[in-house]
Amino acid sequence: MDDKKLILSGIQPTGTFTLGNYIGAVRNWGTLQDEYNCIYCVADMHAITVRQEPAKLRQNTLNSYALLMACGVDLEKSILFIQSHVKTHAELSWVLGCNTQFGELSRMTQFKDKSQKHADDVNSGLFTYPVLMAADILAYNADLVPVGVDQKQHLELARNIAQRFNQRYGDFFKLPEPYIPKMGAKVMSLQDPTKKMSKSDENPNACILILDDKDTVIRKFKRAVTDSDAEVCFREGKDGINNLMTIYSVFTGKDMDTITAEFAGKGYGDFKLAVGETVADSLEPIRTEFERLIQDKAYLKKCYTEGAEKALRYSQRVVSKVYHKVGFVDKG
Ligand code: TRP
Repeated sequence: MDDKKLILSGIQPTGTFTLGNYIGAVRNWGTLQDEYNCIYCVADMHAITVRQEPAKLRQNTLNSYALLMACGVDLEKSILFIQSHVKTHAELSWVLGCNTQFGELSRMTQFKDKSQKHADDVNSGLFTYPVLMAADILAYNADLVPVGVDQKQHLELARNIAQRFNQRYGDFFKLPEPYIPKMGAKVMSLQDPTKKMSKSDENPNACILILDDKDTVIRKFKRAVTDSDAEVCFREGKDGINNLMTIYSVFTGKDMDTITAEFAGKGYGDFKLAVGETVADSLEPIRTEFERLIQDKAYLKKCYTEGAEKALRYSQRVVSKVYHKVGFVDKG
């Protein structure tokens, strides 16, 4: 490849993404492709660290793959693959695991949270999950990793593992840096704007899914919780309005002052409708493209097969060198 920096990211196959996933991560995956070499994976191996229904996982993985394409990941520019199709991830994960301390993994806050949430299934995959994530990144010697706050600690660990490997076996891995998108916005729940928007919220009106149809999107925004004054302006304490303004700003490119001026003298009802319509119209082409792709199973298969071949070719070079460095006998 050329001298562009390499970006790597992964997303778990939940089937459909929330507006939060879209604004915080997936939307940027498309825009990064011109400036960087990008490798993206659907992390189905990460998904099985908690119980999954097999048929559903398979479906969700395919849906996620098609949805990433619909959201702008361009296979002419980037590599997009399904994690379990590329064996180097599991192979490297083992070696890295032997260079990771039990104590380090015990300190991961996501492990602590998830082992509480899934107390009946605290499996060792859940514990070593960050090692697999380090393998995803280091198998390509990636320069940059776009991550949200919840994954920052895992990226930090990946750097520590890389550094330790380099000390033991000689300089080899690049230390991956976090990539913070220029327009990074955190999207909050529409029903309780002090909480992050989440697909698992028990109130379905709290969360916009990017495959929601137009009426649903508009209805959810109409019901969004705001406050008791009536001024569309970005100010501390106005969490609901701030959230809606952030979303509106992302989709229209308008800054907060412009938005305030646009809705001066108008009520929250008008504003919420405008946000709803803007979001629905922006998501419409994604939904249409997704429907087209998910029907075309043969094309989808061709895409993920080629993606996996490219990813394997790339990562195999790295992992073969790692195997040699740790003292495994070279294959003929
Ligand atoms: N663990 C990440 C998450 O749950 C997904 C992921 C898997 C990932 N492999 C990755 C993110 C590599 C960045 C880089 O969100």
